[in-house]
Amino acid sequence: MCGIVGYVGPRAARPLLFAGLQKLEYRGYDSAGISVLEEGRIDSVRAVGNLSALRAALEARVEANGGLAEAAPGRAAAPVLAQAPVALAEAPVANTGIGHTRWATHGRVTEENAHPHYDNTDRVHIVVNGIVENYVALKDRLLAEGARFTSETDAEVIAHLVAHFNTDGLVDAVRKAYAELRGHYAFVAMSAEEPGLLVGARKECPLIIGRGEGEQYIASAIPAFLRETRHVQYIGDDEIVVLRPDEVEFQTAAGEVLARDVVEIDWDADTAEKQGYETFMLKEIHEQADAVAETIGERAAHEDSIDLGDLEAIDDELLRTARRIVVVACGTSYHAGLIGRYSIEEWARMPVEVDIASEYRYRNPVIGPGDLVVGISQSGETADTLAAMRTARSRGASVLAITNIMGSQITRESDGVLYTRAGLEIGVAATKTFVSQVAVMYLLALRLAELRGHLEPGSLARAITEVKRLPHLIAEMLEHGLAGLSDIADAHAGAEFFLYIGRHVGLPVALEGALKLKEISYIATDAYAAGEMKHGPIALLDDSTPVVVVATQSPVLEKVISNIQEVRARGARVIAVASEGDEQIAQHADEVIRVPRTEWMLAPLLAVIPLQLLAYHIADIDGKDVDQPRNLAKTVTVE
Ligand code: F6R
Repeated sequence: MCGIVGYVGPRAARPLLFAGLQKLEYRGYDSAGISVLEEGRIDSVRAVGNLSALRAALEARVEANGGLAEAAPGRAAAPVLAQAPVALAEAPVANTGIGHTRWATHGRVTEENAHPHYDNTDRVHIVVNGIVENYVALKDRLLAEGARFTSETDAEVIAHLVAHFNTDGLVDAVRKAYAELRGHYAFVAMSAEEPGLLVGARKECPLIIGRGEGEQYIASAIPAFLRETRHVQYIGDDEIVVLRPDEVEFQTAAGEVLARDVVEIDWDADTAEKQGYETFMLKEIHEQADAVAETIGERAAHEDSIDLGDLEAIDDELLRTARRIVVVACGTSYHAGLIGRYSIEEWARMPVEVDIASEYRYRNPVIGPGDLVVGISQSGETADTLAAMRTARSRGASVLAITNIMGSQITRESDGVLYTRAGLEIGVAATKTFVSQVAVMYLLALRLAELRGHLEPGSLARAITEVKRLPHLIAEMLEHGLAGLSDIADAHAGAEFFLYIGRHVGLPVALEGALKLKEISYIATDAYAAGEMKHGPIALLDDSTPVVVVATQSPVLEKVISNIQEVRARGARVIAVASEGDEQIAQHADEVIRVPRTEWMLAPLLAVIPLQLLAYHIADIDGKDVDQPRNLAKTVTVE
């Protein structure tokens, strides 16, 4: 997926942009480029391949120009990009610039197709993520007006279009160009006529501002500028943003100025590093004890009460009187909602529905005042989840958001927010954000139970104590408990199909385990309610099929064991995830993965972790890029 970074301020832009692109490498790319405004003209360098190719091209350019910008007299060109740019300020610096990593969609992987793109006068440069759907019509029109295209991309039309309108300044030109574009995209433009100015526009693709002292950043993802600032502002959909060293102005597409808070994120810049792990996903799996501990934090500080803090318009009265809960979410977040359903029904005795947001939004749902809708989205930007929440809200329901990203779109479109505190998650496959979502659902369920008086105080206190033990249990399991997993992965890595089954609280775990394996290894998986096996899926089984059975403690464990027997009778091999101490499982399963014992309701949060690791090891054995699986994006801002 493509990455954008832009900088405007007093410092040399190239090294900052290059460092930003390095932080976006995890998104995958096939070419890259940087444009900076330097002494009245825009200097652009692009290269096919990885960033070392761009580095070499940039250094060659600096060399050829006799040491431009950041190259201080007497300093070799090689370290230019690695050095802190402020130390290299003797020469006039190029301090407005944009950079891009491209993942080819329209047009082959060539230098001409790499971004930044520019108009025929070379005075307007742009970087773009996403797709311009009406580019053919626009291109025809621009060609007729004399534009000469140098690439095969849809993105280049934006450079020509902005240049075409660039008579009353770049802000006006971007607004006029934006009005003509269709599709989903985010772009940033700069003009040789206006040093110290960047203009961005966002339609459904992410774009975020990083605020510095007298300098500003714009990027498609926070890691691009996290080393420099933790103060961020989110650009809303259909908004235009104007960056100057001392100010950032948000506007609607029509030009109306908008107020936007600055949010201070508490992520450490080191979280954007692998810190010795081979991949971000593996690191994030190992961060799950901390993520859950942070998420629970002071919310469970009292022995017999949960404190969810200030949920704005979602007050205690609403939680006490809401007639039902409807959870809307996508993918892994949907699975967190499914786990939440069991805990809310069991502890708070409230009716709960859980729906896939992309389905919910196009139904004619029966929803209204008195209903509490919970939208779960780690990114806070998922188009379908936002749309489902809007539908419910427009019909009078109250909407609570659960997200990992402060200030994200979901937080602006809900009546209250509960944050997971998982920290930055870079791996495309959600792991630590998932267990944090599940932890929040447990806390919400306990708070509802408390307010509604459905758990007697002793049971409430016991459940809270057990929830607080979860981080410790995760840490123990990750440190000592899962040694045999890589052997199990080795034994089954060649299988063409995996079936996952579970019942009751084990079912969402099976669904999530199957999703993890398919998304990072591309092996076909299916996940089923174990009780449904004989209604169809059992026909899939033969002696080459590994069947992963979630068999942790639950009120239906005996039934799950019957399902295991059913599966084994067809010759399939059973990998069971079981709670410590359940010795009978070993008699039935071919391989057993043990997770620590806890209240059965909390077992899903533990049981999913070995399944994340199983998927990880299998994908790793197959040589897959687990951090950036093909065709997937971390933030899904389009439906
Ligand atoms: C899978 C995964 C996705 C997301 C889904 C929703 O590992 O990460 O299935 O869960 O795209 O994303 P959010 O939670 O950002 O709404």
